[in-house]
Amino acid sequence: FFSHVQQAPEDPILGITVAYNNDPNPAKVNLGVGAYRTEEGKPLLLTVLQKAEETLLAKESRNKEYLGITGIPEFNKLSAQLILGSDCPAIAEKRVSTVQCLSGTGSLRVGGEFLARHYGGQKIIYVPVPTWGNHLKIFPLAGLETRTYRYYDPKTKGLDYAGMVEDLRAAPSGAVVLLHACAHNPTGVDPTQEQWEGIRRVIREEKQLLPFFDSAYQGFASGSLDTDAWAVRRFVNDGGEVFVAQSYAKNMGLYGERVGALSVIVKGADVATRVESQLKQVIRPMYSSPPTHGAAIVASILADKDLLEEWKVELKGMADRIISMRHQLFDALKERKTPGNWDHILNQIGMFTFTGLNKEQVEYMRREHHIYMTLDGRISMAGLSSRTVPQLADAIHSAVTK
Ligand code: LMR
Repeated sequence: FFSHVQQAPEDPILGITVAYNNDPNPAKVNLGVGAYRTEEGKPLLLTVLQKAEETLLAKESRNKEYLGITGIPEFNKLSAQLILGSDCPAIAEKRVSTVQCLSGTGSLRVGGEFLARHYGGQKIIYVPVPTWGNHLKIFPLAGLETRTYRYYDPKTKGLDYAGMVEDLRAAPSGAVVLLHACAHNPTGVDPTQEQWEGIRRVIREEKQLLPFFDSAYQGFASGSLDTDAWAVRRFVNDGGEVFVAQSYAKNMGLYGERVGALSVIVKGADVATRVESQLKQVIRPMYSSPPTHGAAIVASILADKDLLEEWKVELKGMADRIISMRHQLFDALKERKTPGNWDHILNQIGMFTFTGLNKEQVEYMRREHHIYMTLDGRISMAGLSSRTVPQLADAIHSAVTK
């Protein structure tokens, strides 16, 4: 029954880690997956997380009961406040329904499947070119037709704003638009606030499209949770409908705990209640209910003023280290007089730099320098350190001059 099964290719992002792990060279560097590393190249367990975890483990009431289908109610409430702002009118008006999901991917998948079943508009979702590779797999499997809009301009290594707006204008009214809330993955290119306003006008006034935000980097782009939620809040506060998928993988370093949330913002409290009842219908046959541990940690941090402040400091520390890596890499290339303009290393934001290196150059760097990055030329700045910057700069230099 199974001899016909074909070997599937490795995932374009997670497969890089597999290749990296198989490389016996001690000088190897993994800049593939977007996972934060310390200056010493180690995963970071936030101090605030350890504190929260210790308190949780000491609690007598701790047990391993099932959560409800939508997860921990306190976690959902606090997650909505974190992304939408605690003074958000939609929350006060009970127009928000938030469900705990399995990190960003799970939130997008649940949201996608809900839309495929119940959305009254067009069951088509537009994603940017390029976008996080998993978007292109999640939405078709959830049952949405997936189309693209222009986003990145390779010539300027910046936003193709005119192309984006033109493509959104050409979309059928009622289509869904996937937007990266901040720190666009893989390009590190975000619209300015003025451009967001233009995008919002097309989405809301000209076309009546449905914005679906993927927020995987709140706090990572600027170091400020509020600044990085600006675009989401702007759309929610205009009173219209919005979907938001949140991940705590990067900003709390909870990668393997799979903690996230989906918030659906609608136009009335009664609608929100009905939407939530249907989200439960999506979740129950998919994985029944979410896991407890990671969400309990998040809830205890968000609920405690001191822990919250501590988290913000640690989050800013991670964001600042990434920014300092940008400067160090830029300076190292300048020092080597590496041909080309590398300003985008400084201008792009968040975890990644979209270097502009092509597939051949990426493969060369892997073969000759044991530096691992995705084939589209994306490097995870969070995987770099002062020690590995010169190695990367040497590798880029030889890739572009060979
Ligand atoms: C990435 O883009 O590297 C991360 O979002 C990790 C992942 O799951 O792909």
